[in-house]
Amino acid sequence: MKRIGVLTSGGDAPGMNASIRAIVNFSSKHDIEVLGIKRGYKGLMDGDIERLDSENVQDILHQGGTILRSARALEFQEAAGQKKALDILKIFRIEGLIVIGGDGSFRGAQALSRLGFPTIGIPGTIDNDLNYTDFTIGFDTAVNTAVEDINRLNDTTFSHERVAIVVVMGRNCGDIALYSGIAGGADFILIPEQPYDLDAISNEIQENRIKGQNQNLIVVAEGVTNREDVGKIIHEKTQLDVRKSILGHVQRGGSPTMRDRVLGSRLGVRAVELLLEGASSRVVGMKGAETIDLDIDEALEIATKLNREEMLMLKNNLTM
Ligand code: F6P
Repeated sequence: MKRIGVLTSGGDAPGMNASIRAIVNFSSKHDIEVLGIKRGYKGLMDGDIERLDSENVQDILHQGGTILRSARALEFQEAAGQKKALDILKIFRIEGLIVIGGDGSFRGAQALSRLGFPTIGIPGTIDNDLNYTDFTIGFDTAVNTAVEDINRLNDTTFSHERVAIVVVMGRNCGDIALYSGIAGGADFILIPEQPYDLDAISNEIQENRIKGQNQNLIVVAEGVTNREDVGKIIHEKTQLDVRKSILGHVQRGGSPTMRDRVLGSRLGVRAVELLLEGASSRVVGMKGAETIDLDIDEALEIATKLNREEMLMLKNNLTM
């Protein structure tokens, strides 16, 4: 293999740059040229492609976002878009492709693999919603950002004896809420994976106020059904002062943590190794301390994350 391509797609995630850097630097040790495809699958279909050398990646490890930029490309979901992409890969003499992204990006990688093009997926999304891997690149940074913000909110919530509702990202996955809620000392954590009962929550808040608790923190995942009503209903039932903060895209930015830099680097190297070994249609990830890889179809079929069970137990043991 002499020339490979790399693209980042979907929502950006801190640590994507660490992966790009690892791919470029490790490839150069094996005399493989790396082409950076701009703006995800859109750039692939448009031929928006340029060579990446060590100089391009020497100062990106600490930077959030992705130097390749990212986009969501509906056209690529259609056969015509995929054909266009294959033609471009041929024109640029790219022999293998590494896709860094989340679930939607992996569906694109799956489509290219099915058309016979050697494609490897690296999990890059703050949502941590790819179940075959313990962690995705960007999740750790996003959670740490959420925890910092929760700490700030705790200060003002204490002063005003309020109920703080913090809405965090994660699409349909509750992991950002679960981890930031536990690390931030939430009283309640609402996630899409578990039902919740606002009557019971309001009662508990009231009972604990009588016992002397003077502030509450509720972390809500954005994927929770009827999350807009949570604050209103708790206020109606408790008559307490409630404030809601939606953390939003700040969770997607910022310099990646050590964990995301190391994860991005490890998975970047492993993805290139797989292409060198002649692999196709695989995704890389982590299980415990080990780097793993498995077939993309198999990976996308895994419906639940095994390490979430213990976190759910912890949540139930630590929250009200
Ligand atoms: O997938 C990452 C993510 O940040 C989700 O948590 C969120 O639902 C979504 O992307 C937001 O997308 P956009 O950046 O297009 O608003």
